[in-house]
Amino acid sequence: MKIKQIHFFSGVVLACFIGIHLFNHFISIFGIQRHIELMDSLRKIYRHPFVEMILLVSVVVQIRSGLQLVRRKGSRNAGFFDKLHLYSGLYLAIFLVIHVSAVLVGRFYLKLDTNFYFGAAGINSFPVNLFFIPYYALAVLSFFGHLAAVHSKKMNQPILSLSPAHQAKGILILGAVVTLLLFYGLTNQFSSIELPEEYRILTGQ
Ligand code: HEM
Ligand code: HEM
Repeated sequence: MKIKQIHFFSGVVLACFIGIHLFNHFISIFGIQRHIELMDSLRKIYRHPFVEMILLVSVVVQIRSGLQLVRRKGSRNAGFFDKLHLYSGLYLAIFLVIHVSAVLVGRFYLKLDTNFYFGAAGINSFPVNLFFIPYYALAVLSFFGHLAAVHSKKMNQPILSLSPAHQAKGILILGAVVTLLLFYGLTNQFSSIELPEEYRILTGQ
């Protein structure tokens, strides 16, 4: 199989998980408890050892194949979506390494339940939020940005008289709206969150 095909197939696996993962975070706008209940149900699937192994292998395959594609392409003479494709991919590579390692360290070494509070801890505590807010926002925007770039290349038909480039811009706008909604939930409607004691270690306090 060619690198691009490998990247495509593991990308589909990963995108399914990420879509569900972001939806789970979105649900926190209806209350932290609702988010945690849904996460408990979803974990029965994605924490099944076989499913989680496929997910973690896909993360590694996606980063390795993506970096090979970046090396091949370069960014000379590239248009907006070509550049977005490369830079969003590079950011996703960095983010996925840090994010997945952090989740695994939190779960197996710090013995924390890596639920809503694990993600919210850094976002709601000054000064570490100066890092965590752009870190998560750029991850969600890069995910939508990467998919918008793929769409702009693969789609060749207008939808409701919108050209593929306009459709791709629509995906970018959707990404910005989803990012705002996720932060609305993660910050308890832009106010603050009472962190349970065991998560305070993550805020450096
Ligand atoms: C969240 C994870 C990711 C998903 C869902 C994803 C998805 C995709 C998809 C579906 C394609 C199109 C493949 C094709 O043309 O058949 C693609 C292309 C590409 N991806 Fe990713 N990808 C992800 C992460 C990454 C990472 C971590 C990198 C690298 C650092 C990367 C770099 C690239 C590059 C360079 C291309 C080719 C661009 C081109 O042909 O112009 N991707 N990605
Ligand atoms: C608002 C932003 C995000 C927050 C707050 C967040 C938080 C979390 C948390 C708390 C977990 C642990 C889940 C559990 O224990 O059941 C997790 C897992 C994970 N996240 Fe995120 N995440 C965010 C965005 C993303 C994005 C954009 C990606 C991918 C590009 C991603 C990829 C993953 C992966 C692959 C895992 C699974 C690790 C495992 O196998 O357990 N996350 N995330």
